[in-house]
Amino acid sequence: QEDLFKNVISHAKEYGYIFASSEIYDGLSAVYDYGQNGAELKKNIKEYWWRSMTQLHQNIVGIDAAILMHPTTWKASGHVDAFNDPLIDNKDSKKRYRADVLVEDYAEKLLQKAEKEIEKARKRFDDFDEEMFKNTNPRVQRYLGDRKEILERLARSLTNEDLADVKALIEELEIADPETGSKNWTEVRQFNLMFGTKLGASADSATQLYLRPETAQGIFVNFLNVQKTGRMKIPFGIAQIGKAFRNEIVARQFIFRMREFEQMEMQFFVRPGEELEWYEKWKETRLNWHKSLGLGEENYRFHDHEKLAHYANAAADIEFNFPFGFKELEGIHSRTDFDLKAHEEFSGKKLRFYDPELKENYVPYVIETSIGLDRMFLAVLSSSLKEEDLGDGNTRTVLKLPAVLAPTKAAILPLIKRDGLPELAQQIVDDLKWDFRVQYDEKDAIGRRYRRQDAAGTPLCITVDHESLEDKAVTVRFRDSMEQKRVPISEVKALIAKETDF
Ligand code: GAP
Repeated sequence: QEDLFKNVISHAKEYGYIFASSEIYDGLSAVYDYGQNGAELKKNIKEYWWRSMTQLHQNIVGIDAAILMHPTTWKASGHVDAFNDPLIDNKDSKKRYRADVLVEDYAEKLLQKAEKEIEKARKRFDDFDEEMFKNTNPRVQRYLGDRKEILERLARSLTNEDLADVKALIEELEIADPETGSKNWTEVRQFNLMFGTKLGASADSATQLYLRPETAQGIFVNFLNVQKTGRMKIPFGIAQIGKAFRNEIVARQFIFRMREFEQMEMQFFVRPGEELEWYEKWKETRLNWHKSLGLGEENYRFHDHEKLAHYANAAADIEFNFPFGFKELEGIHSRTDFDLKAHEEFSGKKLRFYDPELKENYVPYVIETSIGLDRMFLAVLSSSLKEEDLGDGNTRTVLKLPAVLAPTKAAILPLIKRDGLPELAQQIVDDLKWDFRVQYDEKDAIGRRYRRQDAAGTPLCITVDHESLEDKAVTVRFRDSMEQKRVPISEVKALIAKETDF
């Protein structure tokens, strides 16, 4: 698994998917750039989400709000007061950590110890019953029990904002600085995650602004604009894709947790009292969206939240099996009328809907679906990268991206660089390029070119050979099965469309 993750990161760089930001200056931590293939894949993921929201649903429309918003927005949303991470410093090493992450890592180690015991036992017994062993082995029981207790206590302290208790937990568990081993810790402090910036030139008249930490607020403040001008009737949704910024303290795991990232969020406005029904519907709809990409149904699971944020009355994550285990990919939250009510209060403007059926004015309730685009990118990339044994002593690296998301849909390859083959191949490119992103490649032997396209994730290779000049047909090779078939040039466009369309 760890190897897989390393492979994903190096493959992403080698094939122009992801580079460290400002790499020539040694990069900027937790900030990344998307390369020539990454930009295409990212755009295709956006398109897949956007179309499923605003094209397949008559009652969902999209907007594109600004990153900078009036500063009162973040007072109303609670981000100024409550968007914090608990931080702790090591007095000896002067290193700064997220206190909750230190505790969670400790709990993770207990889990690993339990798994090691299980693995050992599996090797010892032929008819090994894992469930039975887990439930009866005292050592495994102790590891898992301790872990559960620690995580529960952490969650309690964080919800009550009892930071002294988080510090006490770190001391009791004797957690050491992972880099230096020192156990000399400061108190735990709250640290706001919003990036600040200034509007205006002179220091005294400048207004404190924030780079938005979520796109959702741009939707809430536009609720009435969209409802009125779009003549929307409840229930309806507003979708948005855009950048968000968080000054994450523990930035790790590549593009899983970034300081500058993109969200794809949809706020669905419903009648008060009907929100939990819609919440269940959206959980199911979103899971089906994920499954439709074919990354493997076993890679998803729900995690229902027991502890809820102050604005929510139900919340769940869709977790994905990343190379470092199951982690949050998307959140589905029933946010009640918290945000719209708060904006009413802070702005003094009514944000209500007149429901002609009920003949009543009300502040709608909101179901939110929120997915990190970069996290989705990582889910797609990591589950698509395969090392395949070809059975003849050879292996191949292949990026089995869903064809609808692939950066290049087809590579057009003249078998050799003469006899009119490049010209015919180029003609085919010129015909296809209006409909698909295709690539012409004439360098190296045909086998090497196939491998190169496999590794870049191109679903189809189209080879032009001498016979093509006679029979006006080409050889189409499929990335996943490596099967080849002869197809008339006149039918190539329809074939690519069939294989790669939305
Ligand atoms: N409007 C609700 C909201 O922002 P969240 O759980 O904080 O909720 C939603 O974020 C999603 O955004 C997450 O499920 C994750 O996919 C993505 N996300 C959050 N922080 C991120 C970060 N630092 N880097 C990359 N993606 C992030």
